[in-house]
Amino acid sequence: MTNNPLLKVPQHVAIIMDGNGRWARQQSLSRLEGHKRGSEVAREIVTTAARLGISYLTLYAFSSENWRRDPNEVSGLMTLLKHYLESEAEEFHKEGVKLKVIGQRELLPNTILTLVEEVEELTKTNKTITLQMAISYGSRAEILHAVQKIGQKVRDRRLDPENITEQIFEDHLYTAGIPDPDLLIRTSGEQRMSNYLLWQLAYTELLFVDKFWPDFTSEDFMETLITYQNRERRFGTAA
Ligand code: FPP
Repeated sequence: MTNNPLLKVPQHVAIIMDGNGRWARQQSLSRLEGHKRGSEVAREIVTTAARLGISYLTLYAFSSENWRRDPNEVSGLMTLLKHYLESEAEEFHKEGVKLKVIGQRELLPNTILTLVEEVEELTKTNKTITLQMAISYGSRAEILHAVQKIGQKVRDRRLDPENITEQIFEDHLYTAGIPDPDLLIRTSGEQRMSNYLLWQLAYTELLFVDKFWPDFTSEDFMETLITYQNRERRFGTAA
């Protein structure tokens, strides 16, 4: 598969990988088996996205709300994340993947946080694709965090409130420096934003796929890209 210059490839794709639990139930497997299969699909989509010339891919791996799930599922997901980072770090590096984690890092167990920092450091100069993994991520928390940091600068008289622009606000989000997503994909048939990138998705094309995440293939991914290519984006301007 090569990057086809005739196709308008989105620069940034964000994905809500939904439906692991329902897929597992359908197969009479544990929820954790569903997440495990989901992590394998995530791995394949990273490689496909890189080959297609997509520059940024953002995956919702664990939301702020997911901490409230059954403790066994939470610890299983954390273990899975740990294994994923450990086993894929070198391979990511070889493929030119730059890893960046967005979310409330301070809530992550120390072992995972250390690992995240190691992989970020290892891959920080890679240029093929930036993989943003949203872990312990919630968009409202991200926005509040930005407001607090801006508030501190105003209090310390380092910033005049009248000079707060959209650009300055964006510079204080976890996603600072990353362009907004062109395309959002959510699998499993649900049609919700689930506290994901609420600021960043203002003009993003939304695409809902009627398949559980573990059944999502690279071919499905490419189909979503073709649908995206056939849409006309106007960013609020007239036709
Ligand atoms: C939604 O399925 C998915 C998640 C809660 C997290 C997504 C996690 C993975 C794909 C695995 C870990 C990822 C990596 C990259 C290591 P759900 O449990 O909400 O499914 P349901 O709605 O059918 O119950």
